[in-house]
Amino acid sequence: MSGFSPDWLAQREPLDSAARDAGLANDFAAAIADTPRRIIDLGAGTGANLRALAPVIGGDQDWLLVDKDPVLLQAQRREIARWAAAHRWGIREDASGAIELTVGPARWRVRSQHLDLQASLEQLALQDCDGLTTTAFLDLVSLDWIDRLCHLLSRSPCPFLATLSVDGQRRWQPAMTDDRRLHQAFAQHQMSDKGFGAALGTAAVDEMALRLDRLGFTVATARSDWQIAGGHPALLGQMIDEALAVGCELEPGATFAFTDWAARRHAQLATGMLTLTIGHRDLLALPGPVRVR
Ligand SMILES: C[S@@+](CC[C@H](N)C(=O)[O-])C[C@H]1O[C@@H](n2cnc3c(N)ncnc32)[C@H](O)[C@@H]1O
Repeated sequence: MSGFSPDWLAQREPLDSAARDAGLANDFAAAIADTPRRIIDLGAGTGANLRALAPVIGGDQDWLLVDKDPVLLQAQRREIARWAAAHRWGIREDASGAIELTVGPARWRVRSQHLDLQASLEQLALQDCDGLTTTAFLDLVSLDWIDRLCHLLSRSPCPFLATLSVDGQRRWQPAMTDDRRLHQAFAQHQMSDKGFGAALGTAAVDEMALRLDRLGFTVATARSDWQIAGGHPALLGQMIDEALAVGCELEPGATFAFTDWAARRHAQLATGMLTLTIGHRDLLALPGPVRVR
């Protein structure tokens, strides 16, 4: 298990969809339009990136969804089947176990790969890939891992789209005194080891952009902030409890103050007046000096 439950990924998917930068997604789609559109998604979870990007890309596509968590890989098939049913698309499984969706005249083939990207990143067949994607994953990895990925991209350059990496902004409304301390605890937590060594967290996009720029890629970034308002009470409640847990773990001396903070936040949530903005960024890198937004 990776610690990311199918339920949590399902809760975040609509927020991610609303937050993604459409311009960068369109530019990624345009960059692979004249290829066989073989796309690899890193840390794919239940397949949210496929569901967000395949309709933007259009035409025939061949996706490889890579993750190390067998529970999520199993949920992936269920979520893709549910997605196809909701749109009344044809769906079948071929002899190799790949899923094939029929979307009008287009065929979207989807395969899963069970792979630990820390231990075995170099096993990825980037030479057979026309576009590399990832979402809500880049901020988990280390500087060393980013160097390894950039090395692979230098040998097999292809368009790279990394969406929804945290950028460190966290704004509760209405503001309260202890927001800042909890925010600092959270920023520290985001840099803790997520299985790749010390995580880059909020620095991930800039570090990746710097390296890809040096490799001659044309890099663009855009904001993709989450806006969580009263329409998502369960998620907001979870974010309050998560902030409390992280705060108490990293600053045990402030447990009393943070518990009071959480109780007041839950009371605000009950009145429907609480909102939270969480900063994210999307990054698109295209090989060579091409024009992106
Ligand atoms: C925040 S979730 C994002 C999932 C999905 N991209 C989405 O947006 O719903 C991070 C994903 O990275 C995967 N992951 C974490 N460490 C991994 C590793 N070492 N190798 C492969 N996948 C990993 C997790 O299993 C999880 O699916």
